[in-house]
Amino acid sequence: TELSRIRNFSIIAHIDHGKSTLADRLIQRTGGLSEREMSSQVLDNMDIEKERGITIKAQTVRLEWNGYTLNLMDTPGHVDFAYEVSRSLAACEGALLVVDAAQGVEAQTLANVYQSIEHDHEIVPVINKIDLPAAEPEKVRAEIEEIIGLDASEAVLASAKSGIGIDEVLDAIVAKIPPPKGDAAAPLKAMLVDSWYDPYLGVVILVRVIDGTLKKGQQIKFMQAGTTHLIDRVGCFRPKIEQLTELGPGEIGFITAQIKDVAQARVGDTLTDARRPADTPLPGFREVQPVVFCGLFPTDANDFEKLRESISKLRLNDASFSFEMETSAALGFGFRCGFLGLLHLEIIQERLTREYDLDLITTAPSVVYRLQLTRSAGEAEARTIELHNPADMPDPNKIDTIEEPWIEATIYVPDEYLGAILKLCQDRRGIQKNLTYVGGRAQLTYELPLNEVVFDFYDRLKSISRGYASFDYHQIGYREGDLVKMSILVNNEPVDALSMIVHRGTAETRGRGMCERLKDLIPRHLFKIPIQAAIGGKVIARETIAALRKDVTAKCYGGDITRKRKLLEKQKEGKKRMREYGSVQIPQEAFIAALRMG
Ligand code: GTP
Repeated sequence: TELSRIRNFSIIAHIDHGKSTLADRLIQRTGGLSEREMSSQVLDNMDIEKERGITIKAQTVRLEWNGYTLNLMDTPGHVDFAYEVSRSLAACEGALLVVDAAQGVEAQTLANVYQSIEHDHEIVPVINKIDLPAAEPEKVRAEIEEIIGLDASEAVLASAKSGIGIDEVLDAIVAKIPPPKGDAAAPLKAMLVDSWYDPYLGVVILVRVIDGTLKKGQQIKFMQAGTTHLIDRVGCFRPKIEQLTELGPGEIGFITAQIKDVAQARVGDTLTDARRPADTPLPGFREVQPVVFCGLFPTDANDFEKLRESISKLRLNDASFSFEMETSAALGFGFRCGFLGLLHLEIIQERLTREYDLDLITTAPSVVYRLQLTRSAGEAEARTIELHNPADMPDPNKIDTIEEPWIEATIYVPDEYLGAILKLCQDRRGIQKNLTYVGGRAQLTYELPLNEVVFDFYDRLKSISRGYASFDYHQIGYREGDLVKMSILVNNEPVDALSMIVHRGTAETRGRGMCERLKDLIPRHLFKIPIQAAIGGKVIARETIAALRKDVTAKCYGGDITRKRKLLEKQKEGKKRMREYGSVQIPQEAFIAALRMG
């Protein structure tokens, strides 16, 4: 296709503002899908994505409109997947900015717009959901101008749901978004935008060609990975797969090259011709690093092999999560896994439970700490180690300093909830950087330790503000902190799955909260159970679960035998989902529930 006839764009929006619905409409209008096929959202093609309504994997669709080829690139909507968003944006020349006519501009709208601007995008505002009774398109238009600083006088008013304004959106893409630039004669340079595993095709690689041409049968080289592969398919999605013979400059499409593992095709890498390579790769390649770690253990030790297989399969499709074997005194064999964020963790955990039918125990999520160890005699230099698991914390005497990752958070919140949000940030050791008002709402900037955010910050923020606050963050580096390992002892035995690294100043409150919640979560036994939180050898909080006086079956007075059997069955059922610690049984739910702060 001629460069002047191509438009590459993505859609940026805050979660739920209607990005996927609009994408589906554009596909339908340009003839890619029938009304019937429209029934389920096509771009979100994983089950969990559908159920939760979140886009995880970037996808792309080629549309034809009035003699122009439009490539629509879908982007993930959540902060955990920021790097994938950034790569998708880099493959486009412009973006549709979708803003909900009833909700207005939100924190993620803003974060995405800034990224889009950084990529020199032409941004076309679309005010969506104008069919809603609560829609205030003029107010939102003013908000886009005031908060974002974009000219919104020509913003398209649309309803993706009712199909209003769809042609206008397509026309605006052609009119406003510039065509790509590129040189067909130059050596091949293509950006690896995304990759995923397909059971039929193997690893599918989504590319944006910058210069040169990608052809079937071509020998290509991945410049970062250093590997070469033979291209066996070239094509695009409409959204159904269409095979092509080649992809030229400015074009977006996919290739397959008999690659077995997505880890070999990392997002951000540059593809070039193996025989006539480009001199320099495209800028901006970054290996994504997991930031949140936790242990995953099968409830039933016999499921370990099944867990290993399932995790390996998931990893085929998601190179951003990591795993390695781990053993725990209490939980047996399992895996230490790394994720891009808590949502990522939840998605993987849910897929393992649902798609692979596994019963799992998840240990306390932890960020990565940097420890500077004290120099021992004979060592030339002090050692720095990365700590992924609180259970591996060295003896405090051997530690010089501990550093933890910090983030900068942007929060939007209506005035009436501001006080409560400020308190939440303060309680989580936040440092206020900025507070301004825009359109009747406060825009807050805070620096916070990631450790204080990973557990339940987002949930708390939402519940305190009745869902009105929005939140976005990025990492800003490591800082030293007065951090200690807090152990939890149940019946005088440490439960390593519950141990965590905490700030000394908040340790006591945390410890007390944990003990109180565990007291409610662990069922009574025939004996008294002390629950303690301790730092080093020192107990900082304590609760006791009173002993159960009688056997449950004693209630049946030996008379009703069926009832007795039922009770025993029930107990057995319950047992399956428990872990034994010494002689104490802890229900599976307790592990995660105990971490939610009150
Ligand atoms: P993420 O994929 O999570 O980023 O969300 P999204 O931005 O893709 O939102 P999605 O398209 O899933 O829409 C969210 C909800 O808003 C769905 O329930 C849609 O049916 C609804 N919705 C989308 N567009 C419109 C619209 O124009 N009018 C109305 N009334 N509802 C809409």
